[in-house]
Amino acid sequence: MKGLILGVWRWVDERTQISRVVRATLTEYMVPANLNFWYTMGSLLIACFVIQIVTGILLLIYYVPETSKAFESVKFITSAVPFGWLIRRLHAMTANLFVLVLFLHMLSTLYMGSYKKPREIQWMTGVILFGLVLTEALSGYLLPWSQLSYWATTVATNAIGSIPKIGDMLVVWVRGTPKVSQFTLGRFFAMHVSLIPFTILMFIAIHLLFMRLTGISAPPGTDKSKVAKVPFFPHMVSEDLTSLFIFLAALTLLVFFFPQFAFPPDALEPANPLQTPAHIKPEWYFLANYQALKLVPNEFLGILLQLVVGVILFFLPFLDRSPERRPLKRPVFTTLVTLGLLAYIALAVWGHYS
Ligand code: HEM
Repeated sequence: MKGLILGVWRWVDERTQISRVVRATLTEYMVPANLNFWYTMGSLLIACFVIQIVTGILLLIYYVPETSKAFESVKFITSAVPFGWLIRRLHAMTANLFVLVLFLHMLSTLYMGSYKKPREIQWMTGVILFGLVLTEALSGYLLPWSQLSYWATTVATNAIGSIPKIGDMLVVWVRGTPKVSQFTLGRFFAMHVSLIPFTILMFIAIHLLFMRLTGISAPPGTDKSKVAKVPFFPHMVSEDLTSLFIFLAALTLLVFFFPQFAFPPDALEPANPLQTPAHIKPEWYFLANYQALKLVPNEFLGILLQLVVGVILFFLPFLDRSPERRPLKRPVFTTLVTLGLLAYIALAVWGHYS
C-alpha cells in the first residue's frame, strides 16, 4: 500500500512539480527571525475566513431565504438538526472574532508602519478587505429574519436616504422596495453567500501575493544586516499555530458559555415590520459609527465625514511617506492613531449605553 501511494505521489509530482512549490513556500521561504505575535494575526484571519465558509455552507443546507420561512428554518437548524446549534453559534461568534482580529491586524500594521513603501498595495487591499468583511457581516445580519435583523437593517439602510437628491432612490435600489422586504432578503442573501465571499477570496489572494513579492517586514527598528533569517516552516508556522490554538480556545469558550453575546433577545423573536423594538442597537463594531451619526446634526454630513476617514486610511501610505517605522520616533502619527482609537472606543461605549 505504502509503495502504491509513493508511486502515485511520484507520478503526480513528476508532472506538476508540487514538491518544488511546497519547498519554495514552506522550508525555503525565509522570514526574519524576530517576527512577533502581531505577525500571526494575518493567518488567524485566514482561519476565520475558512471557518466562515465551512460553517456557512453547512447552514445553507437548511436555511430558506424566504421571509415567511427564514426564521423557522433557522429555528429548525438550532433545535432539530444534529449539531445545528453548534454550527450556527460558531458562524455567528466567528463573525465577531473575525472583525476583532481584523482591527488588531490593522492597528498593528499602523503602529509598526508596515503600510509604508514597498507594502502600499498590501495596505490598500487590506482596507478594501476591511470594508468587504464589514459588509459581509451586515448582509448576514438580515438573513435570520428576526426582529433584530429586520430593524437593524432598516436603520442601516435608512442612513443612505440622507444623501441629498438621490438618497431615496438609492434606498429603494439597495432594498429592492421602499421598505425592507423579500426583495431585500434576496439581495442580501445573494451578496452574503456568493458575491462578497468570492470578492474577499480574490482580495486575500492579491494581499498574500504581494506579501510574498515584498516579503514580510521585519519589526520596526530591526538592523537588517544583523537579524537572522529562518525558514517559514517550521518557525513561523509554529508561531501561527500557537495563536490559532489560543483563538480556538477563546472561540470554544464563547460558543459554549456566552452564546447570548451573539444572540441578544431581539434575535430570538421573528421579524415584525409593524412593531419597532424599544432598543435597537447595531453590532458592537458599528456602534461608534452609529453614535457619531447621532452626534453630528446633519446625518449626511456624518456619513460624509466617515467616508473621508475611510479615504484617508486608504491613501495613508501616500500621505505618510517618511521611511521611519519605529512608533516612538514618529510621535505625531502614534499620538493621532492612539487618540483615534480611544475616541472610537469611547463612541462605541457611549453608543452602547445611550
Ligand atoms: C480578510 C482579511 C485579511 C487577511 C486574511 C489578511 C492576511 C494577511 C497575512 C497572512 C499577512 C502576512 C502575515 C502578517 O503580517 O500578519 C498580512 C500582512 C499584512 N496585512 Fe493583512 N489581511 C487581511 C486584512 C488586512 C487589513 C484590513 C489591513 C489594513 C488595512 C491589512 C494590512 C496588511 C499589511 C500592511 C501587511 C504587511 C505586514 C508586514 O509585512 O509587516 N490586512 N495580511
